[in-house]
Amino acid sequence: MKGRPREFSASAPGKVNLHLGVGEARRDGYHELVTVFQAVQRRETVRLLVDPALETSAEGTVVQGMSTFFGVAEPEEDIDGPANLAWRAVDAVVAEYRRRYPGAALALPRVKVVVEKDVFVAGGMAGGSADAAAALVAANDYLGSYGRAPLEEDALVRLARSLGADVPFCLVGGTALGTGRGDELVEMLARGQYHWVFVNPRVGLPTGEAFSLLDDLRHDNPAFLPRLDTSALSRALLSADPEQLARALHNDLEPAAVRMRPQLAALLRRTGELGLRAIVSGSGPTVAVLCRDDNHTAEVLSGVRDGFPGYEAFATTGPAPGAQLLAGTT
Ligand code: C5P
Repeated sequence: MKGRPREFSASAPGKVNLHLGVGEARRDGYHELVTVFQAVQRRETVRLLVDPALETSAEGTVVQGMSTFFGVAEPEEDIDGPANLAWRAVDAVVAEYRRRYPGAALALPRVKVVVEKDVFVAGGMAGGSADAAAALVAANDYLGSYGRAPLEEDALVRLARSLGADVPFCLVGGTALGTGRGDELVEMLARGQYHWVFVNPRVGLPTGEAFSLLDDLRHDNPAFLPRLDTSALSRALLSADPEQLARALHNDLEPAAVRMRPQLAALLRRTGELGLRAIVSGSGPTVAVLCRDDNHTAEVLSGVRDGFPGYEAFATTGPAPGAQLLAGTT
């Protein structure tokens, strides 16, 4: 196993929820969802740098350390530790190999995890889940290179589910209906490429808090009903018409996100005028602005830069493929 340093790399997409219907709170702390995900071509990259000089024993983590490079605003806290989903994803793949091949000498070279973040942190676009999905695929390639069959798609999806509700979708990408915690996925028929601008007011929002606030709002005001019917959205996705899709977008979590980050009210209003429609992405606070085409996204970006100079924004398209291996140095 000794030799030159090797690299195993993968990328995975961020997402927007075209429909996010939030049902009952469950006993496990999650909510029943009926959601439609669209993966977008703004991707996270995870590299596993393998140091063949450093072997680990056949138990415990193979991760030697991690570092993150930020193409978006950096969070205040250090996220490069064993709690990071990318680190945990590598460990999960290694643990699955050890379960499958007990007794085999799985004394592996240690890896350094390097994440390139281009999706907003804690922004409602599943950036952390994309890191996990990319890390699963990269780690599977790393272990597969030591003479074992790589884990099948089903096994990777199972590991993805154990890491978080959005991780399976970041693995498969495209356009999908998600039920249960949002992790029971069925691919949806969708036509067309859609043009988006994503704007973040340079703050994060913890997903769990948005869900709890929605429960509180519903407790006090029965008008906040769950919207679990996605038929208008399905029709819009078949039309390939962004104007029709714009009318069908919906997010039950939006009122909670706006209460927690009040600056979203003005941002939604203005970007809704600039684009075809603006909604909160997932649990927020990122705002997703649907546009007609590239020229329109350029206009929206420039309007956002004029009106909200401190905010971060980028344009991208969807749907996009799920987690993919990148050519490494192996
Ligand atoms: O699965 P993940 O760790 O991304 O979820 C973060 C939090 O969001 C959960 O701990 C839960 O509070 C909330 N959540 C939820 N229902 C879902 C998905 C997430 O309540 N279906």
